[in-house]
Amino acid sequence: AMKSAKLKVLFDEYTNCAKGDLHKARKQIVFGKGSENAQIVLLAEAPGKNEDEQGLPFVGQAGKMLDKMIQAMGLKTEDVYILNSCLCRPPNNRKPTAGEIAACSDRLHKQLDIIQPKVIVALGASAAEALLGPGGSLASRRVAWHSYRDIPVRVTYHPAALLYNASQKPAAAEDLKQVLAFLES
Ligand code: URA
Repeated sequence: AMKSAKLKVLFDEYTNCAKGDLHKARKQIVFGKGSENAQIVLLAEAPGKNEDEQGLPFVGQAGKMLDKMIQAMGLKTEDVYILNSCLCRPPNNRKPTAGEIAACSDRLHKQLDIIQPKVIVALGASAAEALLGPGGSLASRRVAWHSYRDIPVRVTYHPAALLYNASQKPAAAEDLKQVLAFLES
């Protein structure tokens, strides 16, 4: 209950955020969703059109794939916490720039500080950069454990990438198995 009160304070603080340029074209911020008691945080990139309209992460097609990834770990979507590296939608769904991710990093850090997950899964290169800084390809980062402020981080493919490139699914499943083994250890 403490955590949800703290998240509410943050949400209220950020709802009119005008820190980065992305606020100009957004309809609304997209805050994290899920369980504030989650052991696992799934961090993605930035809201798309549907998310900008509904104010929630992963409400479109990629969300269905994300649900499958969560189920593959034996979890339910409501048991995890899902958030984006940028709270605002980049125009035309382009990738957020490093500067836009940096402008939002406070918001990301503060949400993670409240949740205090046991493990973070970075979905795709943007999420990996938001947590770990620049450097390293997704291919090299996904096969190792990393750490963000003492929280173990595993990097895998973004669910939207798996929609377009099904051949990456076995590798993603392997990554999620590592996360599950860690949580069970
Ligand atoms: N892709 C993302 O990275 N985040 C969302 O919320 C939706 C799609």
